Amino acid sequence: MRILSGIQPTGRFHWGNYFGAIRQYIELQGKAEDAFYFIANLHALTTVREAPRLQQQTMDAVLDLLGLGLDPDRATLFVQSDVPEVTELTWLLLTLTPMGLLERAHAYKEKKARGLSADVGLFTYPVLMAADILIYDSEIVPVGEDQTQHVEIARDLAIRFNHTYGETFVLPKARVLDSSAKVPGTDGEKMSKSYDNTLTIFEEVKPQRKKIMRIVTDSRPMEEPKDPETDCLYLLYRLFATESQRTEMEALYRRGGFGYGEIKKALADVSETYFAPARQRRAEYAANPAAVKEILAAGAARARKKAAEVLARAQDACGIRRP
Ligand code: ADP
Ligand code: TRP
Repeated sequence: MRILSGIQPTGRFHWGNYFGAIRQYIELQGKAEDAFYFIANLHALTTVREAPRLQQQTMDAVLDLLGLGLDPDRATLFVQSDVPEVTELTWLLLTLTPMGLLERAHAYKEKKARGLSADVGLFTYPVLMAADILIYDSEIVPVGEDQTQHVEIARDLAIRFNHTYGETFVLPKARVLDSSAKVPGTDGEKMSKSYDNTLTIFEEVKPQRKKIMRIVTDSRPMEEPKDPETDCLYLLYRLFATESQRTEMEALYRRGGFGYGEIKKALADVSETYFAPARQRRAEYAANPAAVKEILAAGAARARKKAAEVLARAQDACGIRRP
């Protein structure tokens, strides 16, 4: 089984990204015959338009993933633009892409609906993503719910290409990540960098504690029993807690007679403990840029080897001369 997924370097990863996506990528790395994960910096160009910022965010994303346990011996980690074959395949796919297919794609549709002008990069975004997927013969693409439409587009384009030129591409399938872990942000809404309500994974401990202490809570009296399942502090606490910590906290909610300050402190403590090993590992990688460079070079070499093979197959199929 070949697994592939990409993640955009559009900001520092937050708890929602970890529990909703990254943790599951890391769990899958041991189970697949081949697991490819990349930082989608070409896609990020549709929103990030400052070179130093894009570079910084790309490196931060790499370090974050390594810190969180992505193991370069078990998975292939690379930066999207280090495999230029992918933009070449994008052109071949574009020539078979109906306008209507992309007009229905949600990122573009939503932008248009808000009356904003979209550029061609955003419009053709799903075709670059299709090339990302098809160029590695990917079978399974683990993604959040919002990306399943894009994986369907990749599958659709593979079918069209195969139909036009003969069997060339493997048909990919999305594996929807468990979204029961929809992580709430500091305002109780879904945690998202667009809502400015995030707790990032590797934020300094002290300012993060302050942020946690400011999480919005209701003003019911302390003694009143409360339903843990509807409280964002409990929902966050549960992500980090052990089984017994969870049971104990639930009982405390149902009993009542506690202050939210206590819960916030407990949340700050468990999250700090939970991410401590990742913090340590990230710091080690950050202090060793040569090793990181080597990991990315090895990842890109592995990815390029496969990409060149599949691109050649596609070129032969459609009659493009190869040097
Ligand atoms: P953001 O909403 O902060 O822009 P992205 O859309 O870049 O985050 O999300 C990257 C991945 O993280 C996606 O697979 C998405 O499903 C997951 N994710 C993001 N926010 C959450 C959340 N609050 N709870 C669960 N998963 C999330
Ligand atoms: N578009 C994806 C996102 O925003 C990132 C991405 C780019 C991707 N290429 C991919 C995900 C290929 C899976 C497979 O989250």
